[in-house]
Amino acid sequence: MRIDILCLFPEMFDSPLNQSIIKRAREEGLVDIVIHNIRDYTHDKHHTVDDYSYGGGPGMVLKPEPIFEAAEMIKQQLGVTEMPIILLTPQGRLFSQSVAQELALHPHLMLICGHYEGLDERVCEYLATDEISIGDYVLSGGELAALVVVDAVVRLIPGVLGSQDSASSDSHSNGLLEYPQYTRPQVYRGWAVPSVLLSGNHGEIAQWRRRQAILRTATRRPDLLKKANLCDEEKKWISENLLSPK
Ligand code: ADE
Repeated sequence: MRIDILCLFPEMFDSPLNQSIIKRAREEGLVDIVIHNIRDYTHDKHHTVDDYSYGGGPGMVLKPEPIFEAAEMIKQQLGVTEMPIILLTPQGRLFSQSVAQELALHPHLMLICGHYEGLDERVCEYLATDEISIGDYVLSGGELAALVVVDAVVRLIPGVLGSQDSASSDSHSNGLLEYPQYTRPQVYRGWAVPSVLLSGNHGEIAQWRRRQAILRTATRRPDLLKKANLCDEEKKWISENLLSPK
């Protein structure tokens, strides 16, 4: 997969894209991430990227020309006429694991990070094919949001995680939060690991984990449970156990 990111603060990507799983995925050629400075696509002496808002009002607005030119040059270099061009904005559709799964299917993605007080609406209307928000709060710019999207998408690319199992047991991948996990020591400060996990009985362990995931989702995120695929037996079990949890 190739991801092109257009932004005003390229240095913000240096460390996060050079650590851990993303670093390894890049080194192994599983993802190619290219950062572009929007300022490099300006033509005036001062490399102006923003201007006053038509109609007045506080704050500057990012100009459309350098963003369109950068995006068009990238498409030309890649030899494509169509590709997802995603604007990071608090006004976009809400990012989620299923949006990450959808994006991970594309060979190319372009992410545009807005900044300052706003962005010329023609970028949203005539260039971006999608607008994504990572949550109902306002960041100073789209860079951190782009990093969140890149991280969630890259770990879904086949071969990036050690085994595909690690992504499929993640919280949200099956509509449920992840079950609790334990490692050694078996007893820490008097707190023991649930005995079922030491039983060696794979069937019982799988059932315990599934039920814990359901219970956890029901208590912490009941909104998610409505969309999860529970069988009748699980629905019955949850109604019995939610009345007297643990
Ligand atoms: N830019 C500023 N705030 C944002 C958010 N919540 N999501 C995506 N991009 C943003």
